[in-house]
Amino acid sequence: MMTLFCAIWSSFLVLASSSPIEKEITRADDLRYLIGYSEPYSTGVSYTFTEYVPDLSVVMMDDIIDSVCGTGLWILYDSINYDSNHEVCVYEGVNGCGTWDTFCWNVGSSLRYAGSPSGINNDYYNLYKGTTLRGEEFRGATDAADLGIFDLTISSLVVTGQSAWTFYEGLNFSGSAVCVYADQHISNNGTDLDFIHVLALSEIGLPNNSIRSVKRGCHAERVVGAPLNGTRGGGKTSMTSATEEMDAMSITRVHTVHV
Ligand SMILES: *[C@@H]1O[C@H](CO)[C@@H](O)[C@H](O)[C@H]1NC(C)=O
Ligand SMILES: *[C@@H]1O[C@H](CO)[C@@H](O)[C@H](O)[C@H]1NC(C)=O
Ligand SMILES: *[C@@H]1O[C@H](CO)[C@@H](O)[C@H](O)[C@H]1NC(C)=O
Ligand SMILES: *[C@@H]1O[C@H](CO)[C@@H](O)[C@H](O)[C@H]1NC(C)=O
Repeated sequence: MMTLFCAIWSSFLVLASSSPIEKEITRADDLRYLIGYSEPYSTGVSYTFTEYVPDLSVVMMDDIIDSVCGTGLWILYDSINYDSNHEVCVYEGVNGCGTWDTFCWNVGSSLRYAGSPSGINNDYYNLYKGTTLRGEEFRGATDAADLGIFDLTISSLVVTGQSAWTFYEGLNFSGSAVCVYADQHISNNGTDLDFIHVLALSEIGLPNNSIRSVKRGCHAERVVGAPLNGTRGGGKTSMTSATEEMDAMSITRVHTVHV
């Protein structure tokens, strides 16, 4: 038993230490990544993620993550395949670190990011079948006249980048619609991340399971979030609406969404 444990543990350490340390040193500032740690405050065994992981046991990080450092908007789920019966644990930051509250400790079984697979702040949308960013997703950076098999199934969403996206209750950009901009902004040393997460469509005034098409830009009278004005870059930026404003020193957010 002990031998088996040691064998597993040492192969785990090899796996963990062969995570892309090189990349950490050479990576561009705006590359998305998340380092998951087995203990609070960025301590313990760690693993560096750059992609979706539907089953964290594959990288031997199932049910052990307590804290993280990283760039991007990352979501940790307590079940495999991005499902959750309890809490969904979210990290949002640019080269920052955070420790989740204890609800999120030792429960994460799958992990993925929201936003474009390329640039961290590229204009993008993620539409989820489940509320609170759970389940299968329809995602993209282009207009969608229909959502295919995701037609009338969307319950939550994320928008990243500076463009608005308009979500329609009809096919082909028809019917009642709402335009959604990012409402939160994180900036650190010249790297920006703009995003909004909508945990239930009622938050943006749409009925549950009502989205049928998506168009880039703001084409509806109903507007959620707000565009950012002025030049971008380091330092403090402000929002044009009364949405939560980030303290310039506060570059990360770690929070729990109760399902
Ligand atoms: C959407 O628009 C295209 C091109 O105009 C048209 O061919 C198609 O029939 C329309 N679909 C619906 C469901 O209105
Ligand atoms: C900020 O960004 C510049 C340019 O990319 C880089 O040279 C510098 O090391 C960064 N500073 C910090 C504190 O990360
Ligand atoms: C939205 O619909 C899905 C199923 O289609 C359901 O699981 C979810 O609870 C609904 N959400 C709300 C907020 O009504
Ligand atoms: C942002 O720009 C819009 C359009 O130019 C303007 O109406 C608005 O007052 C600006 N807001 C701020 C906070 O500068």
